[in-house]
Amino acid sequence: MDVVLLDSQSLFLQLFSMYKGDQEWEKGRALFVSMNCRDPATANHSLVVAFIAYHLTKNIRLTSCNAERMVLAGLLHDIGKLSMPDGILKSSQRLNIEERTLVVKHVKVGHDSLKQLGFGSDILQFCYSHHERLDGSGYPHGTTNQSEIGCIAAISDIYSALRLPRSYRSNCLSDKEIIEFLLQYDDQFNRNYTYILKSFLNKRSEIPKERKALIGNSK
Ligand SMILES: [Fe+2]
Ligand SMILES: [Fe+2]
Repeated sequence: MDVVLLDSQSLFLQLFSMYKGDQEWEKGRALFVSMNCRDPATANHSLVVAFIAYHLTKNIRLTSCNAERMVLAGLLHDIGKLSMPDGILKSSQRLNIEERTLVVKHVKVGHDSLKQLGFGSDILQFCYSHHERLDGSGYPHGTTNQSEIGCIAAISDIYSALRLPRSYRSNCLSDKEIIEFLLQYDDQFNRNYTYILKSFLNKRSEIPKERKALIGNSK
């Protein structure tokens, strides 16, 4: 298994055992388990989003959000995809306009479901802004006014989407290629955060593979 996925799973297990009995984390775990049963690929994607969001938040040293809660946010950010039929969720074909409209709706469906279930505003914000872009080319609102959490969500989501194979794309980019991509589109993604991600990934690449899997969420 890809080492980034192993490390993401390790972080997930550690935090869920730490927050065992906490109402919000227990609800999150139940939702994540449902997602994993329905579509393991989306669950794996979410694990890596959570892992990157955690380390980005820690390395940026944001005071406005908590790195551990960004794990919960990352795990649940695509929960709205549970409302999509398998034909779209697991499709390897190019989607038509109607299907694409349904995909776009996963953001609002996810946000509204998490809100109804009583998740905190940081988790709602992460979910609602992970497809927004700083130049306004994202969705659902096309806003150029991204919050810090929104910038973390957007970078974590695209990293995972490019790093892991998906049903619609079998080739994966390396960490180096992803950083090049993010810098090429720095009108869409926060450039400072990209550099922080780059230095985190560089540090990880210096750790021998066998140790990397063992230490997992090295802080
Ligand atoms: Fe999404
Ligand atoms: Fe996503």
